[in-house]
Amino acid sequence: MTPPDLPRQFTIREGELRILNPFDDVKLATLGRAIRLRPGDELLDLCSGKGELLCTWARDHGITGTGVDIGTAFIAAARERATALGVADRVRFVHGDAAAYTPARPVDVAACVGATWIGGGVPGTLELLDRALRPGGMALVGEPYWRRDPPGEEAVTGSHARSRDEFTDLPGLVESFGGCGWDLVELVLADQDSWDRYAAAHWLNLRRWLDANPDDELAPELRRELTEDPLRYVRFQREYLGWGVFALLRR
Ligand SMILES: C[S@@+](CC[C@H](N)C(=O)[O-])C[C@H]1O[C@@H](n2cnc3c(N)ncnc32)[C@H](O)[C@@H]1O
Repeated sequence: MTPPDLPRQFTIREGELRILNPFDDVKLATLGRAIRLRPGDELLDLCSGKGELLCTWARDHGITGTGVDIGTAFIAAARERATALGVADRVRFVHGDAAAYTPARPVDVAACVGATWIGGGVPGTLELLDRALRPGGMALVGEPYWRRDPPGEEAVTGSHARSRDEFTDLPGLVESFGGCGWDLVELVLADQDSWDRYAAAHWLNLRRWLDANPDDELAPELRRELTEDPLRYVRFQREYLGWGVFALLRR
C-alpha cells in the first residue's frame, strides 16, 4: 500500500526552508560537531524532512545514512540536496511511515528531530530509536519544552501546544530522559533568533504563495494563518516555548 502523503499546507508553508525546525544552519552544524561523529558512522533519521541533517553531516563528517519521511515533496527535496552537496552516494531517503521503519542493520546514531508524535511522545520515540541502534549507539531527540510557564489557555494554544501537559519545562524534560533509562550526554538549544528563522520564514513563504495562487482552495485558510500567526508567535510561542536537540546514551 502507498504510504499517505503530507497535506499540501505543509509544503507551502515550508517553501524554500531546508531545516524544518527551530535550529538555524549554525546550530545544526554545532550539534554535528558536539556529538563527535566519525567518518563511516551510520545514521538513521526518522522524519528527516528535507534531509539537511544527513546531507550536511555527510559532507562535513563523512557519515552515511538513511532518512525516512512521509512527505513526498520533502523526500524529493532531500534527494536533490544530496546531489547538490555531492553526497548522494552516502545518504538515501525513503518515503514511508517512520514509526514502522526498521533499518536493515543496527545504526550508530538514530535521530528523531521535531516529530516525537511518531512514538506518542518522548518515551515511545526513544523506544523506536533504541530498536534501531547498535549497543552503545546514540539517540538524538528534538523536542519542545516550556521556557516560561504559560499563564493560561491562550498562551498554550498560541504556542501551538495541544495542552499545557503536552510539554514539560527543561529540567522536567531532562529528568524524563533519566527516567527512561538514558544519560543525557549533549544538548544544543534553539534560541529566539533561531526560532525566528523557522517561524518568520513561513510568513514570507505564505505571502509569496498567496500572491501567486489567489484563487487556490487553500488561499482563505492560509490568508488567515498569515494574518494571525505573526502576532500569536511574538506574543506566545517566541516567549514561552523552547526547543532543543538532546543526545542520549542508554545507561
Ligand atoms: C517538524 S518537521 C522536522 C523535519 C526534520 N527532522 C527537520 O528537522 O528538518 C516534521 C517532519 O515529520 C514528517 N512526518 C510526520 N509524520 C511522519 C510519519 N509518520 N512518518 C514519517 N515522517 C513523518 C513530516 O513530513 C516532516 O518532514
